[in-house]
This record gives sequence, structure tokens and C-alpha cells, in this order.
Amino acid sequence: MSPYTDTTTTTTVPAEITPPTHVENPTEATAYEAKHTPHIDIELTDKGTTFVTMQVGYYESHPNELGHFFDWMELQAQGQSIARFSGMPAALSPRFTAEVNLAPETKLTAYAHCNLHGGWTATAVIPAQ
Ligand SMILES: [Fe+2]
Repeated sequence: MSPYTDTTTTTTVPAEITPPTHVENPTEATAYEAKHTPHIDIELTDKGTTFVTMQVGYYESHPNELGHFFDWMELQAQGQSIARFSGMPAALSPRFTAEVNLAPETKLTAYAHCNLHGGWTATAVIPAQ
């Protein structure tokens, strides 16, 4: 399977999800959409780096139980992978934080894959200091 290029975000989507579901405003989404849409939190540090947290289940809890869970997630910056977790165990509440060195205005794209409901994506932009 070849990678799919998302023309709305100009990033290369992981081949496992082609195309992912994108919810424009998760706070107004259905419960089904809110349970699956990734959330990106950005915290600028005093030393010029950025803490980026990616989480699924932020807007509404996802079951995360045996038989229904997120099996991988990836965070990209300008289309390049900066963090990826594969083979995530069932029952895990998916969340990770990475300290990164990215310029203001860098576009971040989060991808998450539910074993029953497929791929989901969200975007955010690094703000100016
Ligand atoms: Fe699901």
C-alpha cells in the first residue's frame, strides 16, 4: 500500500490509514468523533523548546479495553514523523509528551488508529514565543 498524501494538510499520512477522519471542531463533534479525535497540547519552555503532548480521549473517553483500543499513534511536524508508538497494548490510555525543538508556525499533525474505528487526525501550530 502506498502512502496517501492529504492535500488539505500537505503531509504524508501513514499508509495504515488512507484517508483518516478529520473533525474540524472536536468540541462540537458527536460522541463517536470526540472519542477518537486526537488532541495536541503545546507548551513553550523558557529555553526555546516546546513540550508537545498528544492524547486520544481528551474530548471524551475512549473505551481502551481488551478488544477496543488505539494500537498506534504518530505525531508529525511539517510532514516528518517526530514521535510514533506502534503495537500499543490494549487498555492503555494513549498519551505522550515530547520535548522538541521546532520553530514558531511549525504545523503539527497527530494521527491515531483505533483497532475498530480506523484512523483519525488533528492539527495544531506552534505559536510564537
Ligand atoms: Fe474506537
